[in-house]
Amino acid sequence: MSWVSDYQYTWLQRIAFQTLKLSGHVPYHIAFVMDGNRRFARSKQLDKIEGHSRGFSKLADVLRWCLDMGIREVTTFAFSIENFKRSSEEVNGLFNLAREKFTKLLAECNRLDEHGIRIRVIGHIELLPEDLQRLIATAMLRTENNNKLFLNVAFAYTSRDEITQAVESVLSQSDKDTDTLQPTDINERLLDACLYTRHSPPPDLVFRTSGETRLSDFLMWQLSTSVLYFTHVLWPQITIWNFLASILAYQRDRCHLQDYRNRSRLESKELAKAGEFYSGRVQNFLEKLDNSRRQLLIRMASN
Ligand code: FPP
Ligand code: MG
Repeated sequence: MSWVSDYQYTWLQRIAFQTLKLSGHVPYHIAFVMDGNRRFARSKQLDKIEGHSRGFSKLADVLRWCLDMGIREVTTFAFSIENFKRSSEEVNGLFNLAREKFTKLLAECNRLDEHGIRIRVIGHIELLPEDLQRLIATAMLRTENNNKLFLNVAFAYTSRDEITQAVESVLSQSDKDTDTLQPTDINERLLDACLYTRHSPPPDLVFRTSGETRLSDFLMWQLSTSVLYFTHVLWPQITIWNFLASILAYQRDRCHLQDYRNRSRLESKELAKAGEFYSGRVQNFLEKLDNSRRQLLIRMASN
């Protein structure tokens, strides 16, 4: 199964799809919590891993719908740091599935290039087995020049860990740096720029399946102004109609959040105009951080 499916729309789906696309605002960034794979597997007397594998196939349909809808960024929760506590059989099964899918991704990179898809894995990648680190780093480097759709796969991710790592990045500057950050440089904008998601705008819409209405330590810093959409359907069973219903809910609810978002965007513009958004020292620090994270990927890819 490819990362982007060849989904065949019926004429009715096509009409509904185009109507929503043309009649209202399309979210720039959607985040998915793909929950319910094991309950799906149990209900069909399948193995758990087969449930996750069907979950991946559904992700490929969803990516196709997002591409066709004109959505520019998708973030999906594939493996939480909490998931390490599951049985070793399930954890290894999920890692094997990820190995298979990232190997497939590297083999079909031309297809991703055609769609301009850039893969970014967000999470504490160092916690994963080395061969998986290598595949992930290679996929990220191989697609880094694509810029039509950003696919962020949260793997070995939790928000608390992401924030902890951001603080660690700030504190682990070398004493030898001539331009070390000062306590007055520490603010929300700096921490935001140290997160795994530092190159992404916050999600406009979050879509969670299986009737759970928790955030489960997913993008907690980033979601304060996002529309939240919950459905009882299990992830492998969602249909294009569930997807379109979430877009409709977003189009209905976004106006309540827009004022707040516009205000913070204006604030950012004012700060940028006053030259205060990032000082030269902070900018310097962030460039070094980006560079060291890229060097880490290069090391992982060549291990
Ligand atoms: C949650 O359902 C799902 C997961 C923990 C794993 C999701 C992973 C995939 C769909 C595969 C993705 C792979 C790549 C490479 C992107 P659950 O296990 O919590 O199910 P339950 O809620 O029914 O117990
Ligand atoms: Mg679950």
